[in-house]
Amino acid sequence: MAANPIWWRDGVVYQIYPRSFADSNGDGIGDLGGVIQHLDYLAELGVEAIWYSPFYPSPDVDFGYDVSNYTDIDPKFGSLADFDRLVTESHQRGIRVILDLVLNHTSDQHLWFQESRKGKDNPYSDWYIWRDAKPDGSLPNNWEAIFGTPGWEWDAKRDQYYYHMFYPQQPDLNWRNPQVRQACLDVVRFWLDRGVDGFRLDVFSNFFKHPDLPDNPPAVGLRAFDRQKHIYDSNQPDMIPLLRELRELLDSYPERYAVGETFMPTPQSVSAYTAPGLIHAAFDFEMLHCRWDPECFQKAILATEKAMHPDSWPVYTLNNHDTSRTASRYHCGNNDARLKVAAALTITLRGTPFIYYGEEIGMRNIHVPRRFIQDRIGEKYWPIFDGRDKNRSPMQWNANSHAGFTTGKPWLPVHPDHGTRNVEAQRKDPQSLFHFYRRLIQLRKELSALRGGLFQPVTYEPRKLLAYLRQDSEQTVLVVLNFSHRPVRLAMGGELRRNGWVLALSNKHDTLPAIEKGGYLSLQGDEVMILTEKG
Ligand code: GLC
Repeated sequence: MAANPIWWRDGVVYQIYPRSFADSNGDGIGDLGGVIQHLDYLAELGVEAIWYSPFYPSPDVDFGYDVSNYTDIDPKFGSLADFDRLVTESHQRGIRVILDLVLNHTSDQHLWFQESRKGKDNPYSDWYIWRDAKPDGSLPNNWEAIFGTPGWEWDAKRDQYYYHMFYPQQPDLNWRNPQVRQACLDVVRFWLDRGVDGFRLDVFSNFFKHPDLPDNPPAVGLRAFDRQKHIYDSNQPDMIPLLRELRELLDSYPERYAVGETFMPTPQSVSAYTAPGLIHAAFDFEMLHCRWDPECFQKAILATEKAMHPDSWPVYTLNNHDTSRTASRYHCGNNDARLKVAAALTITLRGTPFIYYGEEIGMRNIHVPRRFIQDRIGEKYWPIFDGRDKNRSPMQWNANSHAGFTTGKPWLPVHPDHGTRNVEAQRKDPQSLFHFYRRLIQLRKELSALRGGLFQPVTYEPRKLLAYLRQDSEQTVLVVLNFSHRPVRLAMGGELRRNGWVLALSNKHDTLPAIEKGGYLSLQGDEVMILTEKG
């Protein structure tokens, strides 16, 4: 495996939410120029690729996930020329570029929809899912949108309903129309020709709906959306041939990649979409639902390992633009000890680690008072759910005003802890989370077993330790993660009894502590230990 490097399998992917990363023109919104200024930082961190949340033209009802033109850059982020520069400058540093493709729906401002709504006899008429009301005047079926409305919106112009899985301003495309399929694959080709290395496919498992649009059966749940089983509005079998076609297109260019955002995933659905000949990877998000408990993580990892086709490759992540910051989810206060364990977990599993911007310095959720909430679902569901602004705050570069993110007024407040928690400060501190991330990423580059090796769990003390081996034909690596704040011991029997171990990385020890009588390895509270077999 070591002899055959594959960038998307071996490396670490870093997600940038462009609005919040770095602002080069002082308008308070991050942009491509800002990213380019910080590419050296990302090279220093050691990431292999960057996934960008959308920067296409968008009216920002869902901050970029409502695209009004798939083949341009929104002026607030820059221009196509800036984009080309971003690709060139990234590639010069050995960093690949992954774009977010939002093809389940467009913005209602997209030309395709503007045309489509004009009437039943224009060329775009069948590009969206239009239906008449039922004879009694009711909605075409019982489908619900996830953002808190029925799935159907009345359009007075067209005198029909159209379907949307998200906001009404995000009408779903009709993927059963061959012209839509062609147009969307042309978008993929457009960006491939511009040098893009891969794509993250937004809610791809929803592209197809059942052709007869039957009512979804009922389920038990809190929100209207959860009170039905989504068997007719997602995960339709038609997705498989489309993914095959997409893969053929990707494979007609060298070393291209696609990772899907599976909507309401299970390890089984993820495995079906990533079978040989389909897309390279898909998120299953099992770990995102784990409390800070090694047993829960182990179960999630084993479920993924068991479901995946042996030639498929999992992805692991603890954070993204839709979910709470890791530090806040795991109640870390101002202490980063637990975050080092979380970092080691994502970077040493058999799968591609995805890290959300700012996690490498342990950014926390911000508090956004109700009147300043920008994310519309936050406005809608407050106070039960205050939205996703909290995990999209500006990157904390330094202790200056607005954390060095902008010279203007940032679109979201910066976290008040930026005076002490920022890139500049952590770069100077060898014990910082930033340096720990760097060392982990470096170690993954050095140890072939950490990249491509098999995953094998070893006995662990339930509720405290997670321990596993990563093994390839050349080496064995033992990863031991102490999830508790107290010291614990790992019995080094059975599979772990070897000629000797060497300490490759720890956040608490410089040298390997002696294996105690009876064969116990002692770890301090919150310790990460990565050992290699004596050569
Ligand atoms: C995906 C995105 C999310 C967006 C939704 C609708 O789940 O991650 O941010 O709101 O799709 O496009």
